[in-house]
Amino acid sequence: MKGMEKKLLPLLISIVSFHETIVVLAVQGSVSSRISSNPSMAAFSPGMQPGMEEHKKMDPSKKMLTAFIVACSSLGAIFSLLFCLWTCYKKNSLKPTKNGAKSLDVEKGIALAPFLGKFNSMGMVSKEDFASLRDYQTLEQSTNKFHQSNILGIGGFGCVYKAQFVDGSYAAVKKLDCSSHDAENEFQNEVDLLSKFKHSNIISLLDFSSHKDTRFIVYELMQNGPSHGSSLTWHRRMKIAMDIARGLEYLHEHVNPPVIHRDLKSSNILLDSDFNAKLSDFGLAVTVAAHNKSNLKLSGTLGYLAPEYLLDGKLTDKSDVYAFGIVLLELLLGRKPIEKLAPAQCISIVTWAMPKLTDKSQLPNIVDPVIKDTMDLKHLYQVAAVAVLCMQPEPSYRPLITDVLHLLIPLVPMELGGTLRVGQPIVP
Ligand SMILES: Nc1ncnc2c1ncn2[C@@H]1O[C@H](COP(=O)(O)OP(=O)(O)O)[C@@H](O)[C@H]1O
Ligand SMILES: [Mg+2]
Repeated sequence: MKGMEKKLLPLLISIVSFHETIVVLAVQGSVSSRISSNPSMAAFSPGMQPGMEEHKKMDPSKKMLTAFIVACSSLGAIFSLLFCLWTCYKKNSLKPTKNGAKSLDVEKGIALAPFLGKFNSMGMVSKEDFASLRDYQTLEQSTNKFHQSNILGIGGFGCVYKAQFVDGSYAAVKKLDCSSHDAENEFQNEVDLLSKFKHSNIISLLDFSSHKDTRFIVYELMQNGPSHGSSLTWHRRMKIAMDIARGLEYLHEHVNPPVIHRDLKSSNILLDSDFNAKLSDFGLAVTVAAHNKSNLKLSGTLGYLAPEYLLDGKLTDKSDVYAFGIVLLELLLGRKPIEKLAPAQCISIVTWAMPKLTDKSQLPNIVDPVIKDTMDLKHLYQVAAVAVLCMQPEPSYRPLITDVLHLLIPLVPMELGGTLRVGQPIVP
């Protein structure tokens, strides 16, 4: 409905201004005829040309009549146009509207209006396909009956499948078994939050629906999957870090009320076909306002949890900054946050790396072998310093994500959206 209003408004404005132009022209015609009929005034009229003599000779009352007829006929045309538009508008508003739904109606699989814009802007699925996209049969067909070979990743409550629709467009479909209360909550939470976000570093929600105990979330497809375990270059890794800092800055600083992701980790950072990184998996995310009111269950992923959250349940935007520090370390070192040394022995990346990160002689030897010796050492020290700051045990010593972002931008080549000038072409 809002979209319709948005389209109607400029149309009405242009019609009204068109109408005004005609009336003004008509009136001007009659006024100039009145002026021209007065020779003394004609001498001061800037619009008067010598060739207008013929015009001058016309009967003034005839001109008034012509002006009147033009104005009346234009008004008539405008009113009939307005009437047609109004009828169209009424017809649309009488349709059982799903777009206006603000809250989630999972039983009916109701879709939200904001997605339409995202859909079309991405050129992935057309508006016509949108209506059919969310029904179970379409999702089943597009994922080859949720075939194993279509699995993109495995989540806590179900798998994410690659879907290809009849028009050739792609999407990712998360299939959640919602027989448990936790799964239903995560589904509701993710859909509610994602439907409010619009940012190039946050995954786009395309649709959602429900079938018996199963819920479906349809996202834009991220062709290059999660960011970990990749053979990306140093510059690409810095670009991923910058993208995620941008996504987090949006959640912490630009969304109102602010949102804490609460499960930032490399498997929730997805790469599109151009290796742009986007934050995904908002099942555990909380708005700061909601978090203050309710008691949250301790959730997240071990290895990424900030100490104050793990020990006291104290959750702030600085918990995301801590997790960001761990992600930065993964990009730098090519290691998992917690590694198994022996069957009953694990080591955390923080404990292992922290002393080496601040030692300039040791640092170059612990970087991921894939990128070893490929970066400016000054930049390596800077990134390590940023990671150390983010992982400070005391949350108030950690920087804000905005500060982190501004430290990273100069390390990313201009071609990739940063401010660094590099001579060579950028490779993945
Ligand atoms: N839009 C997507 N495009 C490609 N792969 C995806 C997409 N969404 C999720 N995946 C894959 O599915 C995995 C699980 O999805 P996620 O949303 O993180 O579920 P969970 O909440 O259960 O962790 C991801 O780590 C990723 O590998
Ligand atoms: Mg996940």
